[in-house]
Amino acid sequence: MSIRYRVEVLHGVNLDQLGKRDPAHYGGLDLPGLERLIEGYGDELNLAISFFQSNHEGAYVERLHRLGGAFDGALLNPGAWTHYAWSLHDALEVAGVPAVEVHLSDLAAREPWRRQSVIAPLCIETISGRGVEGYRDGLAALRQALETQAGG
Ligand code: DQA
Repeated sequence: MSIRYRVEVLHGVNLDQLGKRDPAHYGGLDLPGLERLIEGYGDELNLAISFFQSNHEGAYVERLHRLGGAFDGALLNPGAWTHYAWSLHDALEVAGVPAVEVHLSDLAAREPWRRQSVIAPLCIETISGRGVEGYRDGLAALRQALETQAGG
């Protein structure tokens, strides 16, 4: 029986508006619908998933501060903060847990300002443009990293 690792999925600014945002970039699911699918992926991978969403940078930062000890890993989609909010980089460093970055849309195919990610240097992997499947791939990458870290 594999270890059931605890993973926090942190949705950032405007992700609570999924369902109202451009479906060409973000698909048609709303946030509860996305979270139901992520929960299913978590079950497949034997991960205990928790969710957090905020439109307030400080709240997101403070959540990252408290991740260490409470969670084994983190999956982050910080929304537009990804591209400029260096406070998230520093808070993720404090968190000190393995992290994967995921974006629904294909950042490389969009405006140039979306190509920078402040958290990418701290993440095991950055996944972009795979829609909801990107969350499954991100959780699988986290599971693998946690097993490697545990020596298994
Ligand atoms: C996003 C991409 C960001 O550039 C954008 O600001 C978002 C969502 C994505 O999931 O594709 O809000 O992170």
